Formats: sequence, structure tokens, C-alpha cells
Amino acid sequence: MVMQRTFSIIKPDAVKRNLIGKIVQRFEDNDLRVIAAKMVRLSTEQAEAFYAEHKGRDFYEPLIAYMVSAPIVVQVLEGEDAIAKNRQIIGVTDPAKAEPNTIRADYALSVRENSVHGSDSEESAAREIAFFFADDEICCRD
Ligand code: PPS
Repeated sequence: MVMQRTFSIIKPDAVKRNLIGKIVQRFEDNDLRVIAAKMVRLSTEQAEAFYAEHKGRDFYEPLIAYMVSAPIVVQVLEGEDAIAKNRQIIGVTDPAKAEPNTIRADYALSVRENSVHGSDSEESAAREIAFFFADDEICCRD
């Protein structure tokens, strides 16, 4: 097991339905620590840059519109094997296919309005953390 950092978004559908606390509780119950967090309202330019790898896909434009539709909560999570653990806690992209007791199985509304994002690799985590946080916004905890 290796200590890792990963990046998490609580997406507009979950923020709008007052689910921030319930979602953070899932992370903390699974030994992931929040070491940075803020609420932001993405601009279209920011959303397009964040999801640039999906540009051209049929879901891209509606995804951008959705991600700018309300505030989001961005976080850095730290823990043993944090990247894989977070992906396990949130479940697969489509909530209809997500494992029981995952965040998406319990809270997501659809493939697009799927409540959370979690980095899928060390490279993605590093890029996504740097996209939203300066080094001095990330706290070290004992
Ligand atoms: S893929 O097909 O493997 O590249 O898709 P994935 O990495 O699982 O998800 C890509 C992000 O786009 C969001 N999204 C959709 N994906 C697939 N199909 C549809 N219709 C769709 N609508 C939105 C999906 O939630 C992923 O967002 P993030 O924030 O990365 O989890």
C-alpha cells in the first residue's frame, strides 16, 4: 500500500441536492482525508479545459453545460491507495451499473448527473490537483 493523493469533485447535481456532507462522510469513513477543499463555480472555459480529453465525444457539450450549471466542491483526498480506493467508493460512471453502496449507486441521477468525479490514474490526479490548487492550498496532516 502506498500513500497517495487523488482529486475529487462533488458535482452540481449533488451540491444542488445538499449532499456534500453525506459524500464527504463516505470518504472519511474509508480513511481518505480531505487535505484541500473549496467550492467553485466553473466558467465554460475552465470546464472545457478540464474535460479537454473528451472534446468531440457526443456527451461533451452537455457535460460542459452541466458542469457550469451550479457550484461544485473540489477536493484533494489523501490516503493509502487513494486513487483506486476513491474509484471504488464512487462506483462506475453509469449509476445503473455501479456496485451497491457506492456513491453513484446511492445518489447519482444519470450517467451525466453522476454526483462525483475521481481521478483515474496518478497522472490524472497530479494534473487535476494542479488544475485547481496551488501547492500552498494543500495542507499536510499528521
Ligand atoms: S469514457 O467513455 O471511458 O471516456 O468515459 P468516462 O471516463 O467514464 O467518463 C467521461 C466523463 O464524461 C462524463 N459523461 C459521460 N460519460 C459517458 N457517457 C455519457 N453519456 C456521459 N455524460 C457525461 C462522465 O461522467 C465522466 O465524467 P468524470 O467527471 O470524468 O467522471
